[in-house]
Amino acid sequence: MKKIIAVDGPAGAGKSTVSKIVAARLGYTYIDTGAMYRAVALKVLQSGQPLSRQLVNNIDIKLDEAARVFLDGREVTKEIRTPEVSRGASDVATVGYVRERLTELQRKMAAKGKVIMDGRDIGTQVLPNADLKIFLTATVEERARRRLAELEAKGLASDFAQVVKEISLRDKQDSEREIAPLAQAEDAVLLDSTALTIEQVAEKILRLAEAE
Ligand code: DC
Repeated sequence: MKKIIAVDGPAGAGKSTVSKIVAARLGYTYIDTGAMYRAVALKVLQSGQPLSRQLVNNIDIKLDEAARVFLDGREVTKEIRTPEVSRGASDVATVGYVRERLTELQRKMAAKGKVIMDGRDIGTQVLPNADLKIFLTATVEERARRRLAELEAKGLASDFAQVVKEISLRDKQDSEREIAPLAQAEDAVLLDSTALTIEQVAEKILRLAEAE
């Protein structure tokens, strides 16, 4: 059984949904690193302070077993999912000292093993020795359809063209930044989820995790 699983890929590919299912089936801890970048962005937006090393070094981010997110002791699970925070997260994720601090926290969280961690640079930077690396992708249109459905389910109004634009912009910024850009690790398994259900993707990852 693979003890450390890294799942990377662009926004809306289904990483978190699938990773949660795999974690539940294997009894592993799920770690959502995107939520950590989102928490930093939310802190900047809400504190009115500019991003600084001090702000990042003093931040307290906790993820619990139910994948709830706490920022400085306050639950922010829902607040970090707005389009404004998505944009902010992609921005703070370009900054070296933010990545260094969060990478350090993420490695500590994974140290005990039996974890599935998702993000953009997990297989390439955070956990290069992961036992299984997945690069999960889907076409931008399919990812936009999924994101739109999520936003609508939360009562947040948006439209398809706008979501395609936002996702494309984030893909570009996440893939082209200088430090730890979104990239498939050489030893990652590529999974295209465009024509697959969540359950099918989860099954494929479970099979890979169980293989010796
Ligand atoms: O997975 P997500 O949409 O919640 O991630 C939010 C932003 O954080 C995303 O635009 C890129 C950034 N991110 C990152 O740079 N590295 C990670 N390991 C996870 C997320």
